[in-house]
Amino acid sequence: MANQSQEIDQKKLDELQEKVVTDVAGAMGLIMAYMGDRLNLYSALAEIGPATSAALAKSTGLAERYVHEWLSANAAGGYIEHDAASAKFSMTPEQVVTFASEGHPNCMQGFFQAVVSTYIDEPKVTEVFRSGKGLPWSDHNGCLFCGTERFFRPMYAASLVDAWIPALDGVRDKLASGAKVADIGCGHGSSTIIMAKAFPKSSFYGFDFHEPSIEHARSRAKDAGVESNTLFEVVTAKEFPGSGYDLVTIFDALHDMGDPVGAAAHVCNSLAAGGTFMVVEPLAGDTLDENRHPLGQIYYSFSTMICTPASKAQEVGLALGAQAGQKRLTEVLNKAGFTKVRRAAETPTNMVLEARA
Ligand SMILES: C[S@@+](CC[C@H](N)C(=O)[O-])C[C@H]1O[C@@H](n2cnc3c(N)ncnc32)[C@H](O)[C@@H]1O
Repeated sequence: MANQSQEIDQKKLDELQEKVVTDVAGAMGLIMAYMGDRLNLYSALAEIGPATSAALAKSTGLAERYVHEWLSANAAGGYIEHDAASAKFSMTPEQVVTFASEGHPNCMQGFFQAVVSTYIDEPKVTEVFRSGKGLPWSDHNGCLFCGTERFFRPMYAASLVDAWIPALDGVRDKLASGAKVADIGCGHGSSTIIMAKAFPKSSFYGFDFHEPSIEHARSRAKDAGVESNTLFEVVTAKEFPGSGYDLVTIFDALHDMGDPVGAAAHVCNSLAAGGTFMVVEPLAGDTLDENRHPLGQIYYSFSTMICTPASKAQEVGLALGAQAGQKRLTEVLNKAGFTKVRRAAETPTNMVLEARA
């Protein structure tokens, strides 16, 4: 066995074991939270609580013994409250926001859904480690597509129109008076639709090569009442049609592309004179050592399971990874023809780059 001859430092071992046990508790807490969402347990408890397990089981139509065990796991993890005297369970306002407030920027259910998707697809990813092949975005289970939308949409709703677009040089005024915008790798179209609602005089084109996502985006646009200034099309990032765009955006998708340089070069050619390319990417430092923290661990892990295999499944297969960092991303954008690249904004999880020719 490796390192068997080396002496074990008991203190270091205890610390590591403690961390791993905390992580395992988190992994189990996450699957409890995911099931609570699917079974509407949190929203029901938020509505009727404080409640006994019997009352919650009755209101959700679920089997009481399972509901009781689920409540106990959640109470042990601090996800809900328990009053021993009355045997009732309840949720604080903070717990309601985190587990039961769909669309709230602090609701974590989309995040949980995306993590669960990686567990479901683990056998496929393990296999590409052996084969060296890629795993196309389209080969993942549907949990990923919905989880991605659910996780990102509230952040876009909170930041895109009020913070990110105003941080770009002269872009808000152009959009307000009527501009042409392309959103590449738009997925379910959350970002496209949010912009289309905020800037009704502008035209928004959402492009993605994943057909089910584009169909979903079209139906979302209809529900949101922005059909008249949005158009969604199935096409790759290197082949999207049109020219004279005032703004082209890519939200959390450049690093998923096989040929991000080729895609960015196509963006560069499609822009109107003075046009802007907005690239939203996961927040990261430029080196692994800068990314050695929980958020870095989360992003590198998603990157291992989803982003790196997605890029390797496409032509070139550059596999930038979800923690490429601004320096590497700037190199890609420079190679594609953008001479001016700057960080226009950031959130605790993402950076917004502005690139101009
Ligand atoms: C992580 S998802 C982000 C989706 C969306 N932009 C969002 O923020 O919710 C990445 C998206 O990039 C798309 N994508 C990846 N490579 C692409 C390519 N070469 N051409 C077009 N779309 C691509 C995928 O289909 C997927 O919808």
